[in-house]
Amino acid sequence: MSATHLVILAVALLVDFASAGVPLPRYEALLKEQSAPSDPTLGLYDDGDKVVRLTVNNFNSTVVDQNRGALVEFYNTYCGHCRRFAPTYKAVAEHLLPWSEVLIVAAIDCAAEENNGVCRNYEVMGYPTLRYLGPGFQPGPQHYGQSLQTQDINEIREILAGMVAAENLTSSHNNSYWPNFHFLTENDSANSLFEGLSSVTQYVAVVHEPENSTVGVELALFMTQWPTVSVRRVIDPAVAAKFKINTSNLPLSLVDRKGEITAYAPESTNGESYAKKLSEVLGKKNITPRPVKVHQPSVTPATKITGQNELIDEVHRNKHFVYQADLEQAIRTVLHNEVSKVGEISGEKLLALQRFLAVLQRYNPLGANGHQLVAKLKDFVVQFNDQVSGKQFEEELKRLEAHLSPVYSSTHFVGCAGSSPRLRGFSCSLWTLFHFMTVQAANNEESQDPLEVLQAMHGYIKNFFGCTECSEHFQAMASRRKIWSVPNKEEAVLWLWAAHNEVNQRLAGDATEDPEFPKKQFPAPDSCSECYRTPGSKSENLEIEWNKDAVLGFLKNIHNPQFISRYGVQREELLHPTADKMRQKRQISSVFTDMDMRMGMLLYAFCIVMMVLAFKLFAFKGYRKKPYGHDLLGKV
Ligand SMILES: Cc1cc2nc3c(=O)[nH]c(=O)nc-3n(C[C@H](O)[C@H](O)[C@H](O)COP(=O)(O)OP(=O)(O)OC[C@H]3O[C@@H](n4cnc5c(N)ncnc54)[C@H](O)[C@@H]3O)c2cc1C
Ligand SMILES: *[C@@H]1O[C@H](CO)[C@@H](O)[C@H](O)[C@H]1NC(C)=O
Ligand SMILES: *[C@@H]1O[C@H](CO)[C@@H](O)[C@H](O)[C@H]1NC(C)=O
Ligand SMILES: *[C@@H]1O[C@H](CO)[C@@H](O)[C@H](O)[C@H]1NC(C)=O
Ligand SMILES: *[C@@H]1O[C@H](CO)[C@@H](O)[C@H](O)[C@H]1NC(C)=O
Ligand SMILES: *[C@@H]1O[C@H](CO)[C@@H](O)[C@H](O)[C@H]1NC(C)=O
Ligand SMILES: *[C@@H]1O[C@H](CO)[C@@H](O)[C@H](O)[C@H]1NC(C)=O
Repeated sequence: MSATHLVILAVALLVDFASAGVPLPRYEALLKEQSAPSDPTLGLYDDGDKVVRLTVNNFNSTVVDQNRGALVEFYNTYCGHCRRFAPTYKAVAEHLLPWSEVLIVAAIDCAAEENNGVCRNYEVMGYPTLRYLGPGFQPGPQHYGQSLQTQDINEIREILAGMVAAENLTSSHNNSYWPNFHFLTENDSANSLFEGLSSVTQYVAVVHEPENSTVGVELALFMTQWPTVSVRRVIDPAVAAKFKINTSNLPLSLVDRKGEITAYAPESTNGESYAKKLSEVLGKKNITPRPVKVHQPSVTPATKITGQNELIDEVHRNKHFVYQADLEQAIRTVLHNEVSKVGEISGEKLLALQRFLAVLQRYNPLGANGHQLVAKLKDFVVQFNDQVSGKQFEEELKRLEAHLSPVYSSTHFVGCAGSSPRLRGFSCSLWTLFHFMTVQAANNEESQDPLEVLQAMHGYIKNFFGCTECSEHFQAMASRRKIWSVPNKEEAVLWLWAAHNEVNQRLAGDATEDPEFPKKQFPAPDSCSECYRTPGSKSENLEIEWNKDAVLGFLKNIHNPQFISRYGVQREELLHPTADKMRQKRQISSVFTDMDMRMGMLLYAFCIVMMVLAFKLFAFKGYRKKPYGHDLLGKV
């Protein structure tokens, strides 16, 4: 054994103490309080928003077979694009609130596990997805509502107006608020307008709707809150003229029961402006609308998360730590939510799932029960040649988990916990899991395939990752960065690191960024100064010159199973006892197992310094072939 090895062994022993024995009992209460990742109350919309919050428990009763229509957004809380779209969608709900007797604006969080069945049944392929479900809607094969392919608030309003007006309502829908969308004809007159209307109706507003416009429909919908007014559309200018409408400057008129007609000129050509004009006119006649009703089903209030600050402080102190809890949350969400949510897994999707599970089986960070779970799940999936449904997968997963329980040592994010429950989380942990696996592959002789993990990741991201925009970006980046030409396993580690840094750069300052965790190039200089060839230059514009050997060493180090932090783990007994065994073998007293984490941090920092010194001393001798983390593991 060379001197280098001795130094490294000594360092590793120290680090070994440091990483063992967490969590501290005083954190346990706090960790228990934290919400499970699938808590449905953590979605993107709050009580203050006008978006109707759907869950598996109220979906059917709120939007299926109702006498109203519904706009439903299927989203994932962790999907950045969904988060960016949320303010627009809130504005849509606010804007269309006056339509709510005819159409409600609702949303369901597909990242909440309990909603798996709904999102699977509705064959949601991307997130966010907007669907219109008409009155009396009944789901059926190939019939899950009409998609809206826009995220522009005005386009959404116009498309919805078109869909609502195209409904062929039967009397069974029994919605007295539903406007009469038929156009007036040459046979209509000021007197005939009131035929068949209830005596409550004092006025009929006649509105000219040019071809391909929805202004009349929109006006009718905005006016549903005014029981004394009924809105009728007219398209033929000659018919419109009978109601004093001049299509070029007076597109709107009000007819009363005495047959008196007054035409008006709204400020601009849209339904809301027309409605504003009418409400001014009606207000002067002391006529008021009925209050708007939000059809919000009751949802249990969001649980307040306490102690989050302590957790974040802890993570800030250990910026580059990789946490066991995050790796487990990633796997759990992948299995319980993302794969289980797919309707039919066949063809490329099936191959991608089989490959992902095979790779996860090989580089599995879970404990013994978790190893069995993944192995059995893989065997289960591999026996299907054509297809397996997400539902079958979910049933087998739950059966196996019940049988092997307990499988997971923790129930919440630690390093990926955001300063608000809507930030970070799953997508952060997914990166972590894939970095972890590329490093394990590089330290493992079982496979020499440099693409083993990258291919599994690519297949997973393409076919299952519920952040559709991320998936598309990643696929484009993968081909631009020539993922299939990565020559060896160590380059695979670096490929993923560089790709992730590109994403970090693109997202820096984005609306989805957690202010507590700004997107920076990784690792930061204070985590690994030797990773930078130009340590002094912190200029943003300057391309960083990386020392890739140092970066590789750093990545291998932080992802070394010995150094994975067990902070926040509640059931450490489930985890691989490698660290303990090593300690026993070396007959080290257990005095250190309850060592305070901060003490551990000091040791860790000390070790990093020692390692750097060691490598400087021995001039990186044999460094490439025998990365230190792995070298040690191999000897145990
Ligand atoms: C494949 C993929 C593609 C994505 N594409 C998009 C997208 O197009 N648009 C979008 O809005 N969001 C995208 N996301 C989500 C986004 O990248 C982040 O995951 C999310 O914003 C949460 O960020 P975060 O601050 O928690 O850190 P993350 O970027 O998620 O990083 C997780 C952890 O990994 C470590 N880390 C950071 N950088 C590196 C690195 N280079 N090498 C090794 N470790 C590192 C850090 O410790 C960090 O805490 C994508 C996610 C994935 C998994
Ligand atoms: C909702 O309705 C669908 C079919 O209309 C049915 O398959 C499903 O089980 C229902 N969900 C609940 C929770 O009742
Ligand atoms: C409306 O529905 C009825 C009964 O479902 C049908 O007979 C009629 O043709 C429909 N009309 C239009 C315009 O689609
Ligand atoms: C329609 O609604 C009214 C009152 O809202 C109710 O009395 C009537 O029974 C309903 N008719 C049908 C067919 O549902
Ligand atoms: C108007 O009335 C006449 C005579 O009753 C009828 O022939 C014609 O079809 C009607 N026009 C429309 C558009 O209903
Ligand atoms: C209305 O739309 C149709 C089909 O898109 C188009 O052919 C027609 O020219 C449009 N009419 C006007 C007035 O824009
Ligand atoms: C409509 O208004 C325009 C502009 O004021 C005017 O020139 C035109 O004659 C009017 N048309 C009718 C039919 O009154």
